[in-house]
Amino acid sequence: DYPQKRTKADTQDLKQFSIHPLARFNGPCTTYKQPVEIMSFSYDNERNLHMDDRELKYYYPPDLKDCDLSHGYETFVQREQSGPEPIHSLLDSLAHAQKQSADKNLIQTDLVGYFVTILIISWRGIFTKILCTPYNRNEPWELGATLWNNTIFIEEHDTEYTKENSTGTTPRHKLMSYWGYKFENLCTISKLPSEITSSDDPELINRKTTIVNTNVQYCSVAKTSLGNNKLIMGAEVDCLCDAKPKRPANPVEKYIELKTSKVIEKEKDTFYFERYKLLKFWAQSFLIGVPKIIVGFRDNDGCIINVQEFKTMDIPKIVKGKNGMWNATVCLNFANKFLEWLKTVIVIDDPNSSYTISFQSPFKDIKVEFMGKKNSVLAERHLESLKN
Ligand code: A3P
Ligand code: MG
Ligand code: MG
Repeated sequence: DYPQKRTKADTQDLKQFSIHPLARFNGPCTTYKQPVEIMSFSYDNERNLHMDDRELKYYYPPDLKDCDLSHGYETFVQREQSGPEPIHSLLDSLAHAQKQSADKNLIQTDLVGYFVTILIISWRGIFTKILCTPYNRNEPWELGATLWNNTIFIEEHDTEYTKENSTGTTPRHKLMSYWGYKFENLCTISKLPSEITSSDDPELINRKTTIVNTNVQYCSVAKTSLGNNKLIMGAEVDCLCDAKPKRPANPVEKYIELKTSKVIEKEKDTFYFERYKLLKFWAQSFLIGVPKIIVGFRDNDGCIINVQEFKTMDIPKIVKGKNGMWNATVCLNFANKFLEWLKTVIVIDDPNSSYTISFQSPFKDIKVEFMGKKNSVLAERHLESLKN
């Protein structure tokens, strides 16, 4: 029921999905299951991967009297990274979870009647891009996908656009990117907030001078579904509000996302914040079930002026009905239809092959092209470790 244009090129290898008109994604909202964490892992300050929670942090409100985000910029340790994160560490964590779990079906696809349900595995950032696509004006994306064992694995491709927009392309960009990480340091501690008894606790003093190191991350892997699309996604989580409950209890309710944004002064700042920032904040946190987003509003010099909490679930109501805004239902229905369609065009089950999925602009169709036996998203080791 989605218009699918046929062109001459669209014989066998190229398939297209049109985004407009958006009106067809209105209507009853597709269900999205509460994400359930199945695994978590950490990267340490040298980017070594550990299948544990050693880098998990807790939220503790920042000291607004001492909140200059540029502080320590000279000693900033920035992760050496060329291009988007491959899916490999997510798959390593799933292989680990599968080995540990009594549930042998942890990441196995189920049979529903005669049909095998296709599972989609990727980073949360990629699902965020898909969810925001109906309102994306000028941020093209390109993804690579491999179908194997009834599972579609998706990762992001490096493109001219990602190269031009990667962190550190201009000194100002690099500084502003530092602000985001510095804010995380100024808002988090490594022990339980209830264990802080005074304002001169070393945790609170030391967090102001800790060297910011972007190698460090704590990540959560969750299982969920959008309509009939079964999804597994890995996501970086900034902090928790409280002790992490042991699985199978679901810790995602304790998670908090931290963000920085320019302080709102003029009417056009409000529009920009609601139209562009809140859309991404909502999509990113909603997908992994993070209930709370804490935004540090900063001035042009990178000093935090105030901090405001947003309930993820309330964000769509803030923008609802406003002129030129976005609609969460359209995002979810679009993503649902798009993923359903993707499963009908990604059909060659081969761990050595790949498809390229590309989005240029909302007024052009999303294209899916079979690339043959190259650029597989999977590494050799996953064929062994993920086999069920
Ligand atoms: P802000 O989002 O507060 O600006 P996240 O919020 O997803 O946990 O990311 C933490 C910080 O990483 C961001 O903080 C930002 O500083 C930096 N960051 C994330 N994606 C980036 C990108 N594409 N370019 C530059 N910096 C980025
Ligand atoms: Mg983060
Ligand atoms: Mg954050």
